[in-house]
Amino acid sequence: MKPYYEHQGITIYHGDGVDYLRSLADDSVDMVLTDPPYKINQDYGSNIDADKLCSVSSIHPLMAQVSRVLKPGRFAVLFYDNRILPLLFEAAKGTKLIYQRQLFVYRSNSIHAYCWHGWMNCTDPICIFTKAGSKKFYPDTKPKVKHDCYTRTKMNNHKSGHPAQKPEDIIMHIIEWCTNEGDMIIDPYCGAGSVGLSATLTNRRFTGVDINSDWLVLAVSHMSNNEV
Ligand SMILES: C[S@@+](CC[C@H](N)C(=O)[O-])C[C@H]1O[C@@H](n2cnc3c(N)ncnc32)[C@H](O)[C@@H]1O
Repeated sequence: MKPYYEHQGITIYHGDGVDYLRSLADDSVDMVLTDPPYKINQDYGSNIDADKLCSVSSIHPLMAQVSRVLKPGRFAVLFYDNRILPLLFEAAKGTKLIYQRQLFVYRSNSIHAYCWHGWMNCTDPICIFTKAGSKKFYPDTKPKVKHDCYTRTKMNNHKSGHPAQKPEDIIMHIIEWCTNEGDMIIDPYCGAGSVGLSATLTNRRFTGVDINSDWLVLAVSHMSNNEV
């Protein structure tokens, strides 16, 4: 794949995220931090079937590739959706990815959230896996203890324009606690580049991929903004 954008340790590709991972060597990546397509009816624009079931099912080849390219002992962290969590765990079966735990983002003022049987969905899970290996990874920055549930009244100070933009302050905690400076972080579904911006602000290298070029335009301007 030819890079869509390259600047100071950041590379962005326009294409399929799993295809990109297939091009990487075994045990070569320090971290995968991503937010795969997971909502059955989210419209990501350009008539791309970016969030329908066939896209959601790409979690299976994704987890197989993540397991292959990640260095042993390192972290794969995925924003996901409560409704289809079993798919994620099913996709990790038979790989070297070991499920560790979940973090939660609690949207305390959810009003438009998905509602089922009287329960309003106000939490988004973030699932943490590590790759099996005899050597465990300990980051240079010792994690400060924080609750595993982040409460938000709004997700971001700066809106990129992407419908599924994730909070950079949370992503930055995760990055600092799961990698060291200079490490390479991959997001094969990078959207508007929240992981890329967070990687830049914490002095990590980043490669992102998205199938929709409209989001890549946003990603480049969002990452150039350099503010959270
Ligand atoms: C949940 S959003 C990611 C949002 C991102 N975390 C952010 O904060 O902006 C999922 C993204 O995956 C992209 N996508 C869907 N199918 C894809 C594929 N096969 N390869 C790469 N990207 C894909 C969509 O265009 C969408 O931008």
